[in-house]
Amino acid sequence: MEPKDGPDKILETERLVLRQMTMADVDALMDIFSDPEAMRYYPSTKSREEAKGWVRWVRHSYEENGFGLWAAILMETGEFTGQCGLMPQEVEGHREVEIGYLFLRRFWGRGLPTKAAYASRSYGFRRLGLDRLVSLIDPANVPSKRVAERVGMKFEKKVNWYGKRICLYSITS
Ligand SMILES: CC(C)(COP(=O)(O)OP(=O)(O)OC[C@H]1O[C@@H](n2cnc3c(N)ncnc32)[C@H](O)[C@@H]1OP(=O)(O)O)[C@@H](O)C(=O)NCCC(=O)NCCS
Repeated sequence: MEPKDGPDKILETERLVLRQMTMADVDALMDIFSDPEAMRYYPSTKSREEAKGWVRWVRHSYEENGFGLWAAILMETGEFTGQCGLMPQEVEGHREVEIGYLFLRRFWGRGLPTKAAYASRSYGFRRLGLDRLVSLIDPANVPSKRVAERVGMKFEKKVNWYGKRICLYSITS
């Protein structure tokens, strides 16, 4: 699928456009990163400077790998609902590609992360030709496990990840 509305648009679902993230998204990202509930399973909330570093990391991945996390924009209103996409991760010495998803709390419970994650899965398999995708999930993060399962991933094993034991969910094409 070629982007339809310019080079920054990657793909779309029924309700969302996934497009490349830019520094202009930092304010919206802070609605996730400054929310202790959304960041419950991350080491801490993030400062604005850290959010800028996050965007630089994501944009570096676009250049280096041709994919990364994308901004999920609600078509109906143009609102930034969250971020979802594919990021390479090194897990216990293996290169994996993770389906990642972090959404603003006010957009939880409407199926948007599930649809965005499913579209990212299809993009990874069909467009990028990847044969395996994973998600790295804190054992207590039940909503995230549910998204992974709805996307077709299965619990594979526990792995060491930044000093914690984390559940690795995976799917092969
Ligand atoms: C993980 C996260 C994205 C999940 O968000 P979510 O709101 O549960 O995701 P969804 O809306 O796709 O979940 C679907 C829920 O909405 C409901 N829903 C409503 N309309 C729906 C629709 N059209 N399609 C699918 N589900 C729908 C489902 O029944 C489901 O409820 P359930 O979990 O009780 O079964 C969110 O909690 C988040 O951003 N957390 C913070 C960041 C984070 O931890 N990310 C994961 C790191 S591994």
